[in-house]
Amino acid sequence: MKIQDVINFSNQLAKIESTPADTYIVNDIHDIKCVYTGIDIKKDEIDNKYNESIDTYLSHHPTDLLMGKGFLKELERYYPFLLNYNIDKSEAKKATESIIRLWAEVPFTDYEKSPMDLKDIAIKNNVNLFNVHLAADIYGKHIIDKHLLSLRTTTTIEELFKHLKIINEYKNTNEEFRIIIGDMKSKIGKFVFAHGCGANGGLPIAEALFKNNVDTVIYITYFRFQEKNDIEILNKFDNKNLVILPHHASDSVGFNFVLNWLEKNNIKIIRKDDIISCN
Ligand SMILES: [Fe+2]
Ligand SMILES: [Fe+2]
Repeated sequence: MKIQDVINFSNQLAKIESTPADTYIVNDIHDIKCVYTGIDIKKDEIDNKYNESIDTYLSHHPTDLLMGKGFLKELERYYPFLLNYNIDKSEAKKATESIIRLWAEVPFTDYEKSPMDLKDIAIKNNVNLFNVHLAADIYGKHIIDKHLLSLRTTTTIEELFKHLKIINEYKNTNEEFRIIIGDMKSKIGKFVFAHGCGANGGLPIAEALFKNNVDTVIYITYFRFQEKNDIEILNKFDNKNLVILPHHASDSVGFNFVLNWLEKNNIKIIRKDDIISCN
């Protein structure tokens, strides 16, 4: 098994032709037999090999958080995403440009400052290192969207959370389901699960959806770019809900398909506990 085989399989799952810009092959030196995997893998973990047989590190998020700015390119997916929910073109364009600008301004982490570090560590320890992000998220959204299809507009937020717990990753997680605006008794009305576009849509995407008759926006994280008044702005929308699903569980829904496929292909998988079990 080669890294490229895993990437090809993930792209097929997500039905995408080209490999997303937030997939990074940091080091590709041998066939994959034993994988250490997590939603996040930090430099230290790669440096202090947990088990001698590990030959590959596979993370969901680009390692050390924002390893590069590739995901900015993938944020362009918000434009067709919003059009798909009947947002008009100019508003969709404005919201997409705005979220790209906000993410572009976020200061970058160690890798940006010294990008060779991770590769050096992987070379020193003789391990493969790569990540599969967007493709797993697109597939995860597909699975979760399908599960949400049976909900009605009169379903409450409380019932939405309960319904999601039928999915094993949500049943098995200790993370919280959070409400940014709205409350447990609010009706979901018209809802959108805004996920699988590279990174969190923040205020601009939620605002664009609320302005266009969406009652409930479902995210898996909520990144507060401006420390200022985003919640105040969101609260100005009457009877709207912004809810946040457990992050690691949500990421695990798609990522587990990739890991299960590897196991079916006789690859040994060592999962970190930030991957929430699908069993
Ligand atoms: Fe993800
Ligand atoms: Fe994530």
